[in-house]
Amino acid sequence: MIKTLLTVSISLALTASAGIVHAEASASGGKAKAASCSGCHGEDGNSAMPGFPKLAGQHKGYLVKQLQAFKSGARIAPMMAPLAAGLDDQSIEEIATYYSANKISANPAPVLPANDDDDDAPAKTDEQKKAELEKLIHEGGDLYRNGNLATAVSACVACHGPFAEGNRPAAYPSLHSQHADYLIKTLTDFKTGARSKSRENMMHMIATKMTEQEIKAVSYYISTMK
Ligand code: HEC
Ligand code: HEC
Repeated sequence: MIKTLLTVSISLALTASAGIVHAEASASGGKAKAASCSGCHGEDGNSAMPGFPKLAGQHKGYLVKQLQAFKSGARIAPMMAPLAAGLDDQSIEEIATYYSANKISANPAPVLPANDDDDDAPAKTDEQKKAELEKLIHEGGDLYRNGNLATAVSACVACHGPFAEGNRPAAYPSLHSQHADYLIKTLTDFKTGARSKSRENMMHMIATKMTEQEIKAVSYYISTMK
């Protein structure tokens, strides 16, 4: 009896460690394959350039879906399309495993872009800029949690979660700590249809109802969520 139990537990232990070894092999294979991506997305998936999305800590299912969408043309992105075209299913799996296992880095405190200043108006004081930014982030937080009832913009929290952690089983992306510039760009692309040809795309339907100001506010807010 004891012998049988031992055998069972040993074989269970072996199966479990084999599983871990396999996962590690796959993530390290992904790291090597992701070498060509690091120039834009950062070595660990934390891109330093605000226009290039961070991939670290993103749900694997979402990453796989996006890479397949770049390949098929379902997601339109001239920069990514030729790169994704060169990846087979196995490489996509491994690269996605690698990035999803990394941790996303927090952003430095946001600043409003300089071009927000009207040339003719007197230069804003630091106090004024700080107050403006705080107001913007506050508006963004309100939209994130409550949506806009008057214009039927859905609350982001419903799908992306209270911490913008996304939804792994549904492959809804995690958003927290993403670069504000990328968020603004991609929400604008959803709005205009530049990201997806499908009019049924959930985010297209939501973003078309958002104003430029709302896109900016919610993007700044999300970028500060840790
Ligand atoms: C020349 C710069 C560049 C390189 C190199 C690059 N990317 Fe990208 N990547 C981008 C840009 C820009 C976007 C945003 C595309 C858009 O929506 O307009 C992007 C988007 C993505 C996204 C979608 C992220 C999201 O949050 O939706 C994934 C996944 C991705 N890249 C993976 C990769 C992988 C894997 C590689 C390497 C095989 C790679 N990228 C190489 C610039 C680059
Ligand atoms: C009904 C569910 C739902 C709601 C509500 C929702 N989203 Fe999304 N969101 C999604 C899905 C699904 C995707 C992935 C779309 C795709 O694959 O093209 C997504 C993608 C995104 C992306 C792209 C992330 C990336 O890395 O490229 C951003 C940004 C985003 N949503 C922001 C928002 C904001 C802001 C709100 C609230 C105003 C919101 N979402 C409300 C489901 C939702």
